Amino acid sequence: MQKVIPAILTNDAKKLQEQLQVLKDQSYWVHIDIMDGKFVPAVSINLAELRDANQLFNLEIHLMVKKPEKYLESCNTIGAKRVYFHLEGAKDPKAVLLAMEQYQFERGIAINPETTVEQLTPYVKNVDAVLLLSIVPGAQGNTFIPEVAEKILEIKGLNEKLLVGMDGGVGEGNIQDIFTKGADYIVAGSAVWKAKDPIVSLRELQEMIY
Ligand code: DX5
Ligand code: ZN
Repeated sequence: MQKVIPAILTNDAKKLQEQLQVLKDQSYWVHIDIMDGKFVPAVSINLAELRDANQLFNLEIHLMVKKPEKYLESCNTIGAKRVYFHLEGAKDPKAVLLAMEQYQFERGIAINPETTVEQLTPYVKNVDAVLLLSIVPGAQGNTFIPEVAEKILEIKGLNEKLLVGMDGGVGEGNIQDIFTKGADYIVAGSAVWKAKDPIVSLRELQEMIY
């Protein structure tokens, strides 16, 4: 499992292609942030823009949207490997999980910083992965909320086989602590893209874990 997954969050199709080109041959996985302007204020590129990206990467799709069930077919069309929907964005999370069963991708639930593991518990049985948001979602560069890391062990306590990722505000200053607390991987946006050389920064983050 790749332990640092770079995130692309943009509403600009050209920037998406540029960032994919930068990451080409440098990362197996890419995390794509999809936003609908309703679940979070910002809007992102559409899933259709990812057309052939699955030829180059394993695509992890993070749906920050309301009515996530409407996006599943498109996730399948673009060949996504793992899809997260937000517990807070779904009216009926069990129905979304059921709808996901017809597809090959891994099924994941993401939770906002204020959502508790207790609220997630009824749904984890049929889930492959949990994504813990450690910032207020909707943008890159938001402030890390350290208390979120305490949820990692709680989730592993429910089922040690669940993959647990942390998304938001992770960089050199906190990455080691997050892995010490048991995360399987982290997602990095600004720590990669704000660096002078994104690939060097990605490697440095990866090296800090071992
Ligand atoms: C936030 C997104 C994150 C974001 C991470 O809404 O879900 O994936 O791209 O960016 P940083 O690492 O800058 O917080
Ligand atoms: Zn994300």
